[in-house]
Amino acid sequence: MRILLLHGPNLDLLGKRQPEIYGHETLQDIENKVRGHAFGRAEIECYQSNHEGELIEAIHRARQGCDAVIINAGAYTHTSVAILDALNAFDGKVVEVHLSNVHRREEFRHRSYIAGRADGIIIGLGSYGYLAAVDFLTQ
Ligand code: DQA
Repeated sequence: MRILLLHGPNLDLLGKRQPEIYGHETLQDIENKVRGHAFGRAEIECYQSNHEGELIEAIHRARQGCDAVIINAGAYTHTSVAILDALNAFDGKVVEVHLSNVHRREEFRHRSYIAGRADGIIIGLGSYGYLAAVDFLTQ
């Protein structure tokens, strides 16, 4: 099984960006942890971009090579119909993950355009959410 682990804008700053909300782990720490957790069960392909079009192209590429996508689209979660459309063109499973509990935060974070396409959503469990997503996808 091959899983695309996809991160959107500002998540390249994890560890430095508002650690009281997002924790102290860097994106590299999280990617390593997810790869280790999935070892022997799934190959994890990691990609991060601050650009909407690049995230969309990564989802298009996943149509060929990946069975599932774990996506934390960052702020694009709350704005991007284009990312939703790209995910709708992807046939595999989709799990949406957010490190923070977006429902305990500003109202504009309560809406997700991706949620209606996702097979599951994991919110507010920090980086553990990605491990839970791997467990779900590989069960
Ligand atoms: C986030 C929540 C989003 O609202 C925010 O824009 C992010 C990170 C999370 O993982 O908690 O960049 O997706």
